[in-house]
Amino acid sequence: MAVGIFDSGLGGLTVLDAVAKRLPDVPLVYLGDSAHAPYGVRTPDDIYDLTTKATDRLFAAGCDLVILACNTASAAALRRMQEGWVPKDKRVLGVFVPMIEALTERQWGDNSPPREVAAKHVALFATPATVASRAFQRELAFRAIGVDVEAQACGGVVDAIEDGDMILADALVRSHVDALMRKMPSPDAAILGCTHYPLMEAEFQAALGPEVKVFSQANLVADSLADYLERRPEMIGPGKESAFLTTGDPKKVSARATQFLRRQITFTAA
Ligand code: DGL
Repeated sequence: MAVGIFDSGLGGLTVLDAVAKRLPDVPLVYLGDSAHAPYGVRTPDDIYDLTTKATDRLFAAGCDLVILACNTASAAALRRMQEGWVPKDKRVLGVFVPMIEALTERQWGDNSPPREVAAKHVALFATPATVASRAFQRELAFRAIGVDVEAQACGGVVDAIEDGDMILADALVRSHVDALMRKMPSPDAAILGCTHYPLMEAEFQAALGPEVKVFSQANLVADSLADYLERRPEMIGPGKESAFLTTGDPKKVSARATQFLRRQITFTAA
């Protein structure tokens, strides 16, 4: 009984934390590919190769269902994986769709035609690879019409977070929000389209101002996973143990993770 949660590094811990609170009895195996982070500056082929390798490792750890808690992997690799790589008895899900369903006020699986929604001007903050993929705009177009999206590639933020340099991360958030607001002065909503960014949510909200509604993924993904497992309980795989695996230095990664989640987290080598 284990569900796999994958991220390029530490960002997916924001999703893991929300899932652990929502589904306390489900063992979770987290894999952070810190040795290869950030993914956001890599090519789609490179992201695909790294993501499939990490997902295989999670299958081997007893997970039949793997959540790509990484927008970059969801945007650049998920569709290709679902089209020809994922074995028949396994599932790999991404983090984009729950967030877009929340933005477009839809319930899970509502496949009705695209319609007008409350948010008209949406700011998307994401990694360069996610922005370049245009996956957000594609998924949004299936569900909503008349939404103007301005995307800001937030170079450097993930590296600063992975390095624990929160002063630099804060300065970069402010400068990326400034750049976005020069292109779209009054967004109604902002999407934090990278699982690392909830660690900087207060800084994004402060820079955007109180009238902008900030959508952050962790709870949305946790609710959507709970909903999925209620319909497909057999997808909780055979694994029984929770674990934190990293391709990076377990000691360094454990210290950062403990700092972010404010509870003891111990990673072992993947
Ligand atoms: N946290 C990941 C995301 O949601 C990836 C960040 C990165 O490795 O560049 O996009």
